[in-house]
Amino acid sequence: MYQNESRKYYQALRAIHSNVFTNNKRKMNEKTFTRYTDGNIEGINNLYTLIGVLIKLLENNKNVKGVDYGCGSHYFVDDANSNYGWDTNGFDSDIDAIADAKTRYPQNAHKYHFLNLLMNQLPLADGSQDFVFCNAVIQHFSDEEVLYAFSDICRILKNDGIFLVIFKRNILDWEAFSAKSGIKINILDENEGMIEIEDEKMKTALKNFNDRNKNNIPEKYYSGMRLIHVYRVENIINFAEKKQFRLIDKIELPNKHTTDGILSYQSGKGIPNAALFFKKA
Ligand SMILES: C[S@@+](CC[C@H](N)C(=O)[O-])C[C@H]1O[C@@H](n2cnc3c(N)ncnc32)[C@H](O)[C@@H]1O
Repeated sequence: MYQNESRKYYQALRAIHSNVFTNNKRKMNEKTFTRYTDGNIEGINNLYTLIGVLIKLLENNKNVKGVDYGCGSHYFVDDANSNYGWDTNGFDSDIDAIADAKTRYPQNAHKYHFLNLLMNQLPLADGSQDFVFCNAVIQHFSDEEVLYAFSDICRILKNDGIFLVIFKRNILDWEAFSAKSGIKINILDENEGMIEIEDEKMKTALKNFNDRNKNNIPEKYYSGMRLIHVYRVENIINFAEKKQFRLIDKIELPNKHTTDGILSYQSGKGIPNAALFFKKA
């Protein structure tokens, strides 16, 4: 029942935002809990310490090249180019976010690109990149889309290239996000990892709908609720391992502890996220 409603909702939204909204399938993969326990997660205070780990992993690479996959208007592309000397390109399907980034970071405006990553391949040669950074993007993808994304990321990475993927690891993380931000979330299906969150952008999109499309949207969505797919760490490890990635087995943290490639990162608002470091095997 819910799926029928949400299918209609997404079809109608896609009609005006075809470049932003993707597949509405949000089915969770079979759960395997073998690789992930809270015990092997080490604390990292903020995104900079996490980027610090990336800097350390890349310290012996010359002329580093990289990608911010689903960059939005985030500062990472700007920072990477101007402060770390990494030739880094960001791609995103949100044309407003890309325009915003170009205005905010004029010195690196040409490094932010408008692209729907699920309808296109990255415009980069096979085996050409040292790293891919991907923060808070896979929540918008279905299982198939994550697999597609991971294979394209794998294609452009050099052997031994690094793939850092960051995401909220379970529904508790989204509840923490809700508590800190005041943004409403509804848990639709805990086992399937389906939640909906209030999204201002969605409200604006709905306001702009023409009447014909409006008829296709269930009343309750006029609050601007948006579907989110919550992946668990083990889901993402499984997907990555299908696509030639292996978790990095040894990482030295700024506090001198060593860990494997599964880290936990507290975002700005103190919300836990998983940060997984993979290598192209
Ligand atoms: C929560 S934002 C994160 C943005 C940025 N990585 C950051 O950390 O601020 C998720 C981003 O994924 C982008 N995205 C979702 N689906 C996409 C697609 N098919 N192609 C490109 N970008 C996509 C959205 O446009 C949005 O900017």
